[in-house]
Amino acid sequence: MPQFSTETLSKVHEIIGRYPAGQQKSALIPVLHYAQRELGGGWLPTEVMDYVAHLLQIKPIEVYEVATFYSMYNLKPVGRFVLEICRTGPCCLVGAERIQDHIEHTLGIKEGETTTDGMFTLKTMECLGACGYGPVLQILEQFHQNLTEEKVDALIASCRQKAALMN
Ligand code: FES
Repeated sequence: MPQFSTETLSKVHEIIGRYPAGQQKSALIPVLHYAQRELGGGWLPTEVMDYVAHLLQIKPIEVYEVATFYSMYNLKPVGRFVLEICRTGPCCLVGAERIQDHIEHTLGIKEGETTTDGMFTLKTMECLGACGYGPVLQILEQFHQNLTEEKVDALIASCRQKAALMN
């Protein structure tokens, strides 16, 4: 069974401690974030979700229900950079579909796919809460707003640069 590092485990216990005894399920969302990042390499394999269930003393199905409901959890392997583009009405009115087409064309992938080099995954999202600044894209929990094709090209180049520096 996978296991959190001692440091993460102590953060997890701190989060669980914020809730009354017996209500440890309330910690599920933040704990799943840690699990996805630290144990799943960006996604949530079944054994990782089962570990979270064991840790929180809840049924595995209760973890699966949450993990499959929220789009921030990935249920299959993803690339190093997950490009999450908002495809809700207000962003579509200002060009989200055009931006998605541009990303798909530039990276040679469709929505839900990962580039063959494992660098990028493209996901479409419901409203990201920045409707006045569309089109909006989220990468590594950072928002990029008022997107144009040129801005997208620069973002992709900057991701590639970051990856090269991390190697
Ligand atoms: Fe795109 Fe709200 S509609 S952020």
